[in-house]
Amino acid sequence: MLALQFPGSERLLAMIDEAVALGCERATTDAIRNGLCRLIRDKSVTLPACVFEPVQDHYARRELYRCEELGYSVVAMTWGPGQGTPIHDHSGLWCVEGVWDGQLEITQYELRKQDGERFLFEPVGTHLAGVGSAGSLIPPHEYHTIRNPSADAVAVSLHIYKQALTCCSMFQPAADGWHERQARALGLDEAA
Ligand SMILES: [Fe+2]
Repeated sequence: MLALQFPGSERLLAMIDEAVALGCERATTDAIRNGLCRLIRDKSVTLPACVFEPVQDHYARRELYRCEELGYSVVAMTWGPGQGTPIHDHSGLWCVEGVWDGQLEITQYELRKQDGERFLFEPVGTHLAGVGSAGSLIPPHEYHTIRNPSADAVAVSLHIYKQALTCCSMFQPAADGWHERQARALGLDEAA
């Protein structure tokens, strides 16, 4: 089992264990979202110092915990100024994402048409998420982008996935507003 110790980690994991035991994706993600907001705001969890260190050429993904028994994975992401993702999915896994530090701009997309590996998306909402806010993604409503809009501040978010997300689809802009799907393996940065 991968487990990094940090102050309050047992409270965070107990909250997730309890939520996953509800056994229903909607109830589980609701409980994690509310629990995560509470833990961020009451400052009872201190994430390891490494998660506040951005990586120069990509947003950092550091896995803090993977539960062998229940399968879920906890990943901290570090977004340098302007770093972000293309439109992507989560391979059909539910996920809850909470903002720990800084601000993130999240845009949600709905799939309108598909032609083989070509996809037509419509942006259906953008919000600027600040510290202590969290959102959940339940497939098939899973297409989105995340970006740190700040010119100088680092942002940190915590992501709880149903299972470790090791690959996903990224969608690159193509002609006429369409996007082309590319399968992408997701790497992890060292957490220490
Ligand atoms: Fe995502």
